[in-house]
Amino acid sequence: MCGIVGILGTKPVAVDLVDALRRLEYRGYDSAGVATVENGHLERRRAEGKLRNLSERLTREPLNGLAGIGHTRWATHGAPSERNAHPHMSENVSVVHNGIIENFRELKDELMRAGAVFASDTDTEVIAHLISYEMRKGADPVAATKNALARLRGAFALAIIFAGHDNLMIGAREGSPLAVGHGDGQMYLGSDAIALAPFTDQITYLDEGDWAILTREGVEIRDRQGRRVDRPKVTSQASGFLVDKGNHRHFMLKEIHEQPEVISHTLSNYMDMASGRVRFPDLGIDLAKVSRVTISACGTAYYAGLVAKYWLERYARIPVEIDVASELRYREAPLPENGLAVFVSQSGETADTLATLRYCKAAGQTIASVVNVRSSTIARESHVVLPTLAGPEIGVASTKAFTCQLAALACLALAMARARGQLSDERERELVKALLEVPRHMSTLLRDERRYDELAHWMSKSRDVLYLGRGLSYPLALEGALKLKEISYIHAEGYAAGEMKHGPIALIDENVPVVVVAPEDDLFEKTVSNMQEVAARGGRIVLVSNADPESIGCPVAAHVRMPQVHPFVSPIVYALPMQLIAYHTAVLMGTDVDQPRNLAKSVTVE
Ligand code: F6R
Repeated sequence: MCGIVGILGTKPVAVDLVDALRRLEYRGYDSAGVATVENGHLERRRAEGKLRNLSERLTREPLNGLAGIGHTRWATHGAPSERNAHPHMSENVSVVHNGIIENFRELKDELMRAGAVFASDTDTEVIAHLISYEMRKGADPVAATKNALARLRGAFALAIIFAGHDNLMIGAREGSPLAVGHGDGQMYLGSDAIALAPFTDQITYLDEGDWAILTREGVEIRDRQGRRVDRPKVTSQASGFLVDKGNHRHFMLKEIHEQPEVISHTLSNYMDMASGRVRFPDLGIDLAKVSRVTISACGTAYYAGLVAKYWLERYARIPVEIDVASELRYREAPLPENGLAVFVSQSGETADTLATLRYCKAAGQTIASVVNVRSSTIARESHVVLPTLAGPEIGVASTKAFTCQLAALACLALAMARARGQLSDERERELVKALLEVPRHMSTLLRDERRYDELAHWMSKSRDVLYLGRGLSYPLALEGALKLKEISYIHAEGYAAGEMKHGPIALIDENVPVVVVAPEDDLFEKTVSNMQEVAARGGRIVLVSNADPESIGCPVAAHVRMPQVHPFVSPIVYALPMQLIAYHTAVLMGTDVDQPRNLAKSVTVE
C-alpha cells in the first residue's frame, strides 16, 4: 500500500506534492512526509497521522526545493510514528517506497557492519543506505541505484532523489504500480495517474522490473537487465478534480446514495435496453466451451465473487471454483483446460488478486477482470476487462463498487447461461427486467434512512453481532458483518444460517443481535427455522426481509422492511441495508467512517 509521488518542477514543489498525496490518501493515512533537494542538500518534513498534520507542519516550516518526493503511509514495518514516516534518508539519498523489502534484515545487518546508522524501524531505510553505500564505492547515482535494485527482494515502487542533484529523480517498479508523468519542462512520478492528474494527463506506466531515470528534459526507462526500453505514452482519463462529499456528511454516505445511478450505468454497459437482452463483450473464448470458472478476489470483492458463484452455478449450470486470492495463489490449485478465471477488484491493484491473476494466466486460463479503475494493473494484465462504472470510490469501506460488481457479474452469469443453452429468451427478459428494476428499488429504500436510527442505537451498545443468510443471502451476511466491523469496530461474524447450529449458536444470548438476511425466496422456510433456534436461546433477531415479522412465528426485535424483489437480484438490493446498518452504527459511535483505523483503500502488499 502507501502512495508515492515525485516532482521535478520549476517552482517549489512541496505544495504540489501534498496536493498529489491528497489524491493518494486512499492508499494509507498513518503518516505522511515530503523531502526536497534544497541548495544541494536534502531537507524533509514528516508528520504522524492524517495529511493535514503534514500540511500544517509545512506551513510552519516550508520547504523550497524544486525537486522532491512525497509519501502517504500504511504501516507495515514499524509503528505509524513520525520516525517511521517516509521519506527515509541516508547522508545523500532520500527515498519513498510502496511495498515490502523481504530481505531487509540481511541487508540492514550488512550495512550496519559497514557503518550505516539507522534512524527508523522500517524496511525502506535500507534502500537509502544501500544506494549511499554503492555511491561511497565510487558509483554515480544511476549506477548506484542499478546495483542496489539488483539486491532488493520483495515488492516495491520507489521514487528517489539525491543530494547535489537538483535535476535527477529515479523511479523503480517491482510488484507495486508506478506511473511516469510527462509535463512541459517538468516530470513526475506517482503511484497512479490520479495523483498526477492536476499536473499532466500524459502518462507512461512502468512494467514489472522497469526503472526510470527522470530529468526535467524527459525520461529514460530501463528494464531489469539495464537495457533501454520504450514504454508507450498514453493519455490518462483520470480527472484532476478532487471528488467532494457534496451535501453528505461522509464519502461513504454519498457513495451509498449514488448506487441507483451507478448501477444503472453499469447495467447499461452490458445490456441492450431495447430488446431486454444482455449484450456482453467478446471474452475471446467460446462461453459454451468453458469447462470451469475460477473466481478470486479479496474482502468485499470476494463476496461479490461468491454471489457470482451461486448465479453461475444456478443459471449457467457451470462449475465454479472460488477462493480468496491470498489462498488460491499458494494452494497450487490445478486449473482446467478451457478455464475462465475471473478477478474482481475495485482498485485493480490489490497485490494478492494480481498475483493470483498471474498464477492463473501462467496456467493458461482466459483472464477476465471486473474492475473499477480501467488503467489499473489488473485491468492491463487481463485478456478482457469488464468495467464497473461506479466512479471513484473514496470511502475505504466499499459500497457502490460492490453493488456495481454484482451488476456486472449478474450480466456475466446471464451471458454464460445463454451461451450454454440454459436460458430461454423469455427467461432472459424476465431476469434482465429484474436487474433494471434494481435502481428504482434502491432509490425507494434510500428515501427513508430514519428507520436505522433506533437500530443503530441498539447495535452500537453491542459487543458482538451475528449475521446469518442462506443461498444468495449468505455472501450478504458475510458482507454485512465485514462492513460493520471495519467501520464501527464492533466484533461481527457472518455465517451460513444452516451452519449456526454447528458452533456459533453457543454465542447467542439476549445481548447479541442476530441480523438475518431473509428475502422470501425458496430457502426462506429453512431460514425461518434457524431464526426460531435463535429466538429459543433468547437471541434478538433483526429481520431484514420483505416478509411480515408476524409470519415467522417467533419474536423479532427489529425489522428492516424490504420491497418484494426478484430472488435473482436480491443480493444487490439487500446490500443496501447491510451498508446503512454499519454506517449509522459507526456514526453514532463516532469512528472515522471514511478512513477507519488500520485500513487502506488499495492493498498493494501481500
Ligand atoms: C471492505 C473493502 C475491502 C476490499 C478489498 C479488495 O469494505 O473495501 O475488503 O474489498 O481490500 O479491494 P479491491 O476491490 O480494490 O481489490
